[in-house]
Amino acid sequence: MKIFIDSADLDEIEKAYASGVIDGITTNPSLLKQAIVARKKARRGKVNIEDYLVELLTIAKGTPVSLEATKTDTDGMTKEGLELYHRFNPIANNVIIKIPINTSSTGRAKNTESLKAIKTLAQERVPVNVTLVFTPEQALIAAKAGATYVSLFAGRVDDYIREQHNIGFEKGDYWPEDGIIKDNRHIQDNGILSGAYLVKQTVLIFTRYNLKTQVLASSIRNPRQLREVAIAGAHIATVPFDVLQASLVHPKTIEGVKKFSDDVPPEYARVAQ
Ligand code: E4P
Repeated sequence: MKIFIDSADLDEIEKAYASGVIDGITTNPSLLKQAIVARKKARRGKVNIEDYLVELLTIAKGTPVSLEATKTDTDGMTKEGLELYHRFNPIANNVIIKIPINTSSTGRAKNTESLKAIKTLAQERVPVNVTLVFTPEQALIAAKAGATYVSLFAGRVDDYIREQHNIGFEKGDYWPEDGIIKDNRHIQDNGILSGAYLVKQTVLIFTRYNLKTQVLASSIRNPRQLREVAIAGAHIATVPFDVLQASLVHPKTIEGVKKFSDDVPPEYARVAQ
């Protein structure tokens, strides 16, 4: 499974890439906003977004970077996707265009604006990451439209299930793959028991129909969820830097490191100096 960093913060991205285990970057408008506000504060000045993106793409050279289109109609999304791609892909040949599966922002309104945009971009050989995917059927249709990746929002599915059932939670809380049983019934979102379960179901469908679209587990909240989406067969998980770091922690690792460093015989310590 590949691991992407879910961030637009250049310092964080640099640190993550320095670890040598990062295979790509996912950004979204909220992550960009957060990173730009932080940079403005730190440097007390304006941020040139073109320079910023060039820096980001350069750090990631050789690995894919998702940049999100922000328009909500077919023509707007297609135009913006093509523009972003043609302007920034020449920097490091690694731009992926992110398109939401449905751009309606009113209730449960039906909207197929994205599908034609995904198809046109794919036909123009622009790789597309279809984002804000919360059901296997959204993922299936995105794949049919020509998506290179589908981003399944595992953490936000868990949030949604908890919100629907008035279960209080913190952002990093763990929610088990098999969901929770309350009053003898599974708490779920239309058959989806959890974010990891959404990933599992989507992987099953893609495998059954031999679809080439890659399943990208996103909105990952904690190391255990990372483990669950890996077991579920995600091709990629995109993780915030703190989840990557937290995934290395275990009390017995810390205890062991202390004991081993206390016990190093001086003769052995000299061997590798
Ligand atoms: C996906 O690509 C998104 O950037 C991201 O994973 C969203 O995560 P969040 O739910 O933590 O905002």
